Amino acid sequence: MSGTVHTVRWGILATGGIARTFTKDLVIDPQTRDVTDIKHQVVAAASSNSSERAEKFLQECGVSGGKAYGSYKELVADANIDVVYVATPHSHHYQHARLCLEAGKNVLCEKAFTTNAAQAKILAQLAKKKGLFLMEAVWTRYFPASREIREIVKSGKLGTVYRVFADVSFGQDVEKDFPPENRMVNMDLAGGVLLDLGIYSLTWVFQILYHCLDPSIRKPPTVVSVMTKYPITGADESTSMVLNFPPHNAHGIATTSIRVDKDPDGKSTAGSPIRIQGTKGEIQILETGGNGFRPSTYRIIPKDPNDASLQGKDVEHKTPPGHGMFWEADEVARCLRDGKQESEGLPLAESIVIMESMDEVRKQNGLVYPEQIESTDYPLAGF
Ligand SMILES: NC(=O)c1ccc[n+]([C@@H]2O[C@H](COP(=O)([O-])OP(=O)(O)OC[C@H]3O[C@@H](n4cnc5c(N)ncnc54)[C@H](OP(=O)(O)O)[C@@H]3O)[C@@H](O)[C@H]2O)c1
Repeated sequence: MSGTVHTVRWGILATGGIARTFTKDLVIDPQTRDVTDIKHQVVAAASSNSSERAEKFLQECGVSGGKAYGSYKELVADANIDVVYVATPHSHHYQHARLCLEAGKNVLCEKAFTTNAAQAKILAQLAKKKGLFLMEAVWTRYFPASREIREIVKSGKLGTVYRVFADVSFGQDVEKDFPPENRMVNMDLAGGVLLDLGIYSLTWVFQILYHCLDPSIRKPPTVVSVMTKYPITGADESTSMVLNFPPHNAHGIATTSIRVDKDPDGKSTAGSPIRIQGTKGEIQILETGGNGFRPSTYRIIPKDPNDASLQGKDVEHKTPPGHGMFWEADEVARCLRDGKQESEGLPLAESIVIMESMDEVRKQNGLVYPEQIESTDYPLAGF
């Protein structure tokens, strides 16, 4: 493969906030992050109902020569697209990712993958049947810091990891910041903090206590949970979960909130929101004012200061120009180049187990979304 550069041609489905951030990252020259084996080209974007909005989106993202479509159906029919990035609200992921797969397109689908596990299973089966690539866009897993931490845990240098604390919370003035129609609290758009931010707390818990185990011994965790609902819409505003992972009975404590903050002064005075605790030491994510979903700096704290295998130090990765979403895009490009149908960083079976845990948390707390967005029927009118 050395010497050849593989170019992947992207289609962007939706023109909202994260589509913009992701597309701006795609147009950055990968060499700025020392990546020379792959390249990205944005060949088209679609808005659900306005080609003018798609055109403006492409211009604002700095894409030249891309096609602008006024419907998602037109986008998925474009023969020049290798992979579609689905960036609609998670209520719509099942319908839109399925639209892409049915049209024969590879898919990178934003988190939360779907509204429920039943939808996720159907997408995974369909991708497999059609020989297409499918991945949930949990970008956190592809940051160099995440990859390194997984390697340290897998190497056994931390001993057996028995506990992970992970808090991803933003203290907002919920009534003021989130009017009922806002997707964060709007039940019609699968609003609520569990599916939007809790997925990141669960990402840390799962990528350490599940993913770092040999696949032959990975088993779904049990979970107990509590939830506080936002009285105006009924979406969850704070959710706390305790998960128990076989085979070591390791505990994952995953919390998430839009009412209280993990880092109220933005200076990390509150300490690390992510702690990975093994018998030989601990790793903490340290990013000041940042959050667990964009990890750059971490601290290794050995139990024995003379432990030669585990150096007590802070490791800092400066994020190259851009937001850091390019790491997951690079992963997709390499998977497509190598003919893979899923990413080892987040296999589809793992996305499904995580969705099952979130289903269980919703069941324990009576959080049910409108029938249409929990449905596995396809196609449905109005999407
Ligand atoms: N990875 C991350 O860091 C990150 C950050 C934020 C959000 N997300 C995820 O990305 C997804 C989108 O979030 P966002 O913040 O980009 O949302 P957003 O700003 O509201 O954008 C969503 C876009 O989806 C399209 N859309 C299609 N049908 C829609 C409908 N019925 N209601 C609303 N929008 C509809 C719209 O674009 P057109 O109509 O023009 O197509 C809209 O601009 C969510 O699943 C969220 O969890 C991920």
